[in-house]
Amino acid sequence: MDRVKAVLCSRNRNKARELEHLLPGWSIDPLEATDWPEETGATYLENAQGKARFGRDVTGGTVHVLGEDSGIEVAALGGRPGIESARYAPEGAPAIEKLLGELEGVGDRDARYVCELVCITPAGEEVRGTGTLTGRIAAESRGSEGFGYDPVFVPDGEERTVAELGDAWKAESSHRARAARALLAAFGALVLLVAAGCGGSDPTSNRVLAAFFTHGPTARVLGERFPHQAGTLKCVLHDGDKELQATCATDVSLVKPTRAVVTLTEAWNHGASAHTWFFFIKRDGTVESVVQEGAAAPKP
Ligand code: IMP
Repeated sequence: MDRVKAVLCSRNRNKARELEHLLPGWSIDPLEATDWPEETGATYLENAQGKARFGRDVTGGTVHVLGEDSGIEVAALGGRPGIESARYAPEGAPAIEKLLGELEGVGDRDARYVCELVCITPAGEEVRGTGTLTGRIAAESRGSEGFGYDPVFVPDGEERTVAELGDAWKAESSHRARAARALLAAFGALVLLVAAGCGGSDPTSNRVLAAFFTHGPTARVLGERFPHQAGTLKCVLHDGDKELQATCATDVSLVKPTRAVVTLTEAWNHGASAHTWFFFIKRDGTVESVVQEGAAAPKP
């Protein structure tokens, strides 16, 4: 399959490299532009869309354009800094110091990272993927990898900060990695299921999706019928040469006149990590968006 040629609408060249790693088969260059628009959206999605649409205007639809927006939300601060994360304080030590200062003596350390990715195809179709990573804010800064708030963010199920867990861990488990997989899954559902194959980088999630769409009640059928009943189907996942038995539980909920949410949960029994995908499906069977949540498997 030809590489997908894309530009990332961000001045941050590291993000383009990081995303290229997260979206194998894609070649991603940073957008060359001089007059960048302000980030004025009220949500991550609006900001990511703003960046992608700006890139679309600059490139004129010759390539895929990606817009990304992310931030950290701290429960005890009412979700701040949120979409203001980049402007909260200069990135790195100053932002961390300010955050730890605001949380001094605060018992509730719950927080989450959020990433929203929007892709506009050359045909003008807009596809999105959301990824979150839940965790808590540590008492002090630890570790040297990653960037931003990583030295004080401890993901659920871990004792170490993201900066200690490192870039390899981030490539697999960060909110950006999850958003990238959700984006690929959305592409998979929109385009691939039709052309059979995509799904992207993570062979395990591809197989789960493929199993879901090909062997189980398909998303399209679910989308058309919106049955109010859960189903569990067996599927085989491939991890390298190994075949692993797994179950994928599906459920249809939040049925509205025009759309439903299909939840697909990949079970623990392949021993890696549990994932849940939420497919927002329109009544015509097309998938509007896909959100992926994930959690590390419990240690034996
Ligand atoms: P953006 O460039 O407007 O998306 O700003 C994102 C901001 O959120 C960054 O400047 C960081 O402060 C924070 N942030 C987003 N993702 C991460 C991450 O993976 N690690 C640490 N901080 C992050």
